[in-house]
Amino acid sequence: MRTTDGEVGLRLYRAGDRDRLVAIADNPNVARTLADRFPHPYAREDAENWLARVKTETRPCNMAIEWRGELVGGIGIEPMADVHSGTAELGYWLGEPYWGKGIATRAAGLIISYAFDELLFIRLQASVFAGNPASCRVLEKNGFVREGVLRKHIRKNGRIRDAFLYARLRSPG
Ligand SMILES: CC(C)(COP(=O)(O)OP(=O)(O)OC[C@H]1O[C@@H](n2cnc3c(N)ncnc32)[C@H](O)[C@@H]1OP(=O)(O)O)[C@@H](O)C(=O)NCCC(=O)NCCS
Repeated sequence: MRTTDGEVGLRLYRAGDRDRLVAIADNPNVARTLADRFPHPYAREDAENWLARVKTETRPCNMAIEWRGELVGGIGIEPMADVHSGTAELGYWLGEPYWGKGIATRAAGLIISYAFDELLFIRLQASVFAGNPASCRVLEKNGFVREGVLRKHIRKNGRIRDAFLYARLRSPG
């Protein structure tokens, strides 16, 4: 799967991405607002484990974000199970030098189209740590609605904080 809007693109990960992944992911500022399954420090072995994991996906759900032909981050959707099987959870990150250029907003737009039009999910949701306004904006600019506050839902780096639940539906109503 490959998709692009000209400047920002999504593509499958490749084995050769390992060192570049470590270079941009091994940063406490990136990990701070992500779940602990995004490791910090982010070592070569972590990149290898990640690349081995995504290789097993039969329907690609995790993709590398490219900006001007260079790997700059990752984005993915995680299908939920059981009665929630029409829903997928959206997540994304960028290497810090690439923040503030509109890249995440555009990458999210690309994966949202893929998730709704090709994978036929009916709902996408994301939970954002309180204190991450940039990510809230990425979602709002892509038509997500803040549905609620998940109080004290996050324990990260020894601190408890709220999260915001955002969602967008394939067809409203
Ligand atoms: C969150 C993240 C992906 C945003 O990526 P990005 O490419 O910088 O986002 P964009 O440039 O597309 O949009 C950011 C928006 O947030 C706004 N923003 C940035 N910092 C802000 C702040 N402190 N307060 C309010 N708005 C802020 C920007 O102005 C922009 O909105 P605008 O276009 O309306 O002006 C990036 O910061 C990141 O990777 N962070 C670490 C990982 C993470 O938090 N992932 C999301 C987990 S839910």
